[in-house]
Amino acid sequence: MNPVKEDMPEIQLTKAEKEDIKEIVKIWVETIDWHAKFDEDFTLDKDGKTNFSFMVSKALYEPTQVVFVAKSGNKVIGFLYGFTKKHSGFFKKRVIAHISDIAVDDDFRRLGIGSKLMEKFEKDFARENQADELTLYVHLLNESGVKFYEKLGYSVKLLSMRKKLEY
Ligand SMILES: CC(C)(COP(=O)(O)OP(=O)(O)OC[C@H]1O[C@@H](n2cnc3c(N)ncnc32)[C@H](O)[C@@H]1OP(=O)(O)O)[C@@H](O)C(=O)NCCC(=O)NCCS
Repeated sequence: MNPVKEDMPEIQLTKAEKEDIKEIVKIWVETIDWHAKFDEDFTLDKDGKTNFSFMVSKALYEPTQVVFVAKSGNKVIGFLYGFTKKHSGFFKKRVIAHISDIAVDDDFRRLGIGSKLMEKFEKDFARENQADELTLYVHLLNESGVKFYEKLGYSVKLLSMRKKLEY
């Protein structure tokens, strides 16, 4: 059962360090496996976990990328991985701060931790890098994810469409 807000453990929000990667990857794999239950395209490839681990490890040292963790004591209970990217060379528009992955350990949800990670990303990374807007992708079937982002003021601007090819 999730702890109630009154029993909220003390949480520290910091930039991730090398030692945190294993726990970040564990939380990520759990959420990807959960996504795979409603969309088989999220089924992990045999190298998926290793590749994600490599990507977030590298992100710790890249100025255009960031990984924040929420910790209770020494335990990682949530993380956010994001980056900045320049808009195309065609439009006036400028810098985007993109949230690539955010997840909170199942046992610590609805305590405000995801919101705190998003605030930290906006304040200490996106605004620090003069980003003009925040972007992210969320699966339409991820109802809790959609509600979470809507609560934080995000709204749909582009629709991602696809046609699956059968052979
Ligand atoms: C989405 C996620 C990161 C939210 O983290 P969290 O710490 O539970 O979020 P918060 O406690 O800050 O929630 C803030 C608000 O978002 C909304 N919200 C969050 N989870 C919700 C849910 N399951 N159902 C409905 N609304 C929800 C609520 O309005 C909530 O405020 P409230 O608890 O006062 O009602 C977490 O559910 C998660 O890790 N999900 C799996 C991974 C994922 O879907 N990531 C995002 C898409 S890639």
